[in-house]
Amino acid sequence: MTILTTGGCGYIGSHTCVELLNAGYDVIVVDNHDNSSPEALRRVRKITGKDLKEYDIDIRDKEALRKVFQENKIDAVIHFAGSKAVGESVKLPLKYYDNNIGGAVTLLEVMAEEGCKRLVFSSSATVYGDLNPSPLNEEMPLGDTTNPYGATKAMIERILKDLCISDPDWSVVLLRYFNPIGAHASGLIGEDPNGIPNNLMPYISQVAVGKLPQLSVFGNDYDTPDGTGVRDYIHVVDLARGHVKAVAYAADHQGAEIFNLGTGRGYSVLEMVAAFEKASGAKVPYAIKPRREGDLASVFSNPAKARDVLGWQAEFGIEEMCRDAWNWQSHNLNGYK
Ligand code: NAD
Ligand code: UFG
Repeated sequence: MTILTTGGCGYIGSHTCVELLNAGYDVIVVDNHDNSSPEALRRVRKITGKDLKEYDIDIRDKEALRKVFQENKIDAVIHFAGSKAVGESVKLPLKYYDNNIGGAVTLLEVMAEEGCKRLVFSSSATVYGDLNPSPLNEEMPLGDTTNPYGATKAMIERILKDLCISDPDWSVVLLRYFNPIGAHASGLIGEDPNGIPNNLMPYISQVAVGKLPQLSVFGNDYDTPDGTGVRDYIHVVDLARGHVKAVAYAADHQGAEIFNLGTGRGYSVLEMVAAFEKASGAKVPYAIKPRREGDLASVFSNPAKARDVLGWQAEFGIEEMCRDAWNWQSHNLNGYK
């Protein structure tokens, strides 16, 4: 079976390519390298000892995308490509609506034309909004999204559900990721953010390795055990393996199905700092700062549906997540550069 991954050169995509190749799938990657380095796929080949095909194109380029489907027999698509920085999306909303929604619509049009109607989509826990209490489950109503990035995820979910209603041949799996962190155990691929990281784990890693002076902890007055924000961190290799299960599920189901991919366990910012210091032996100096606008106190999943229906559950704990994040960061000071 041949799987097309859009955005397959990025952080989650590259780890998923490894797991797909290891599971025996043929893999094709479409990526415009807006937020990734082609070096990632060279390393995917090194890890797996297998080859994959890559196209340097933008998914909004309909003609180019059509050609990919015409040159290959594609059985299913995993759609990672998109822009993902919450803060940037507030400043540049049209970039997000164009790239994320425009990109998804173009991809779906080409898939429909070419008769490929199996899709796995990268959604986010952000679609639950701020009113649903954790643990979050797939039955809960969607919440209000507070930024354009989140709005694109909620809108694409809606588009995919409507598409499945309009045409029963479609099989779509919506994966709502919690907080992916860590890296492949080889230390060859990992998260390589542009500029100063926005997310906690890459920030902690860069402080630990001496690239940044200290971590700002955004608020210690939340209603959580130590007052700092709680999230459901998930090892990116576990997340990647969830996609392999989702692709297999999509192969013999119809309609749209939603799954959380999380561990079900929340960790606070200070717990993450302590776990990282333990795994790395490095110090992570931090200072308590005001809350970050838009942040919630506590967000974690109920992962039971993925376990019961997909037969998937997270295997790695916080120690492995921190160990592998450190291994990647300390061996690749400047990411892929
Ligand atoms: P990433 O930025 O590392 O990967 C996205 C990839 O898509 C990049 O390689 C980028 O170059 C490519 N891309 C972007 N626009 C494109 C376009 N128009 N045409 C072709 N390629 C394009 O991000 P990631 O962390 O690997 O996330 C993958 C997906 O998962 C994204 O859709 C993201 O919104 C979603 N997601 C990520 C997280 C997270 O915390 N990392 C959480 C929830 C959901
Ligand atoms: N945090 C800090 N200091 C930092 C960065 C983060 O204290 O420098 C705290 C945040 O306040 C939060 C926690 O660490 O309590 C996690 O923050 P992240 O930015 O790593 O992750 P978020 O949960 O805020 O956001 C992530 C993705 C979004 C996605 C959201 C919900 O980055 O794309 O999960 O799925 F929308």
